[in-house]
Amino acid sequence: MTNLTFFFLLMGFFVVLSINKFIKMSVNKQVKRVTTHTLQEMKQNNEKIAMLTAYDYSLAKLVDGAGIDVILVGDSASNVMAGHETTLPITLDQMIYHASSVVRAISRALVVVDLPFGTYQGNSKIALDSAIRIMKESGAHAVKMEGGEEIIESVKRIVSAGIPVMGHLGLMPQSIYKFGTYVVRAKEDEEADKLKKDALLLQEAGCFALVLEKIPAKLATKVSQLLHIPTIGIGAGSGTDGQVLVLHDMLGITTEFSPRFLRRYLNLADEINNAVSQYITDVKSLDFPNEKEQY
Ligand code: KIV
Repeated sequence: MTNLTFFFLLMGFFVVLSINKFIKMSVNKQVKRVTTHTLQEMKQNNEKIAMLTAYDYSLAKLVDGAGIDVILVGDSASNVMAGHETTLPITLDQMIYHASSVVRAISRALVVVDLPFGTYQGNSKIALDSAIRIMKESGAHAVKMEGGEEIIESVKRIVSAGIPVMGHLGLMPQSIYKFGTYVVRAKEDEEADKLKKDALLLQEAGCFALVLEKIPAKLATKVSQLLHIPTIGIGAGSGTDGQVLVLHDMLGITTEFSPRFLRRYLNLADEINNAVSQYITDVKSLDFPNEKEQY
């Protein structure tokens, strides 16, 4: 074989490799609307799932337009939008209000809505009623619930009514008063074993995906390999099938919350402060409005 033939063979190999990579990367680009089925395909194709929270029409429109796969109308709205210390106070009516605003904005992303604290823990009938209200009144595509074994009956009942359920294990903010702190969960074997067992139970019960919050990266990778449904991590390392962040945290609108796992892509708090200060100066100095800005 001449050097030239070898060179062309090598080039051919790399071209095939790149085409393969492109084909594998393209699942979410091919779809007009992201569905639970799309997420399953993305896992099979090793294509990571990008999820962000949104709670209102304007930001949801921007996030959807940028090509996000999943929008979570999280009960973190309780902290971010309403200023509560925990996620516990937010009500089903408030979640439906946020979710319907988001649904009106999106044209492509899958919209998942948190069932808030107290609306599914009672029994599976209460859980189903809450899930049905979210689906009917907001037009969202799926619900999310925190917990393992203890909520399995409710998950099964909701799934059998045709409503897709996303699970949530690890740090579960609705149980913060049981945990007592927001530190990393499942560092010890006993809790890690329970988490793995719960993950399998949720998968068997019909969950289409699972959020893993603030657990060791090694454990999250293991769980992701164990399951055929996609896992979406927050503070769970790079071995999960996708990542989720709270939009206001990653945009730097909220500043008081700075965990290690949070990457800030913007510093909007400073930007907004500068803009508002400038506006105040302009109004007070009669610079605004100028001749062109009036009728
Ligand atoms: O409510 C929320 O924002 C969440 C994410 C942190 C996963 O549950």
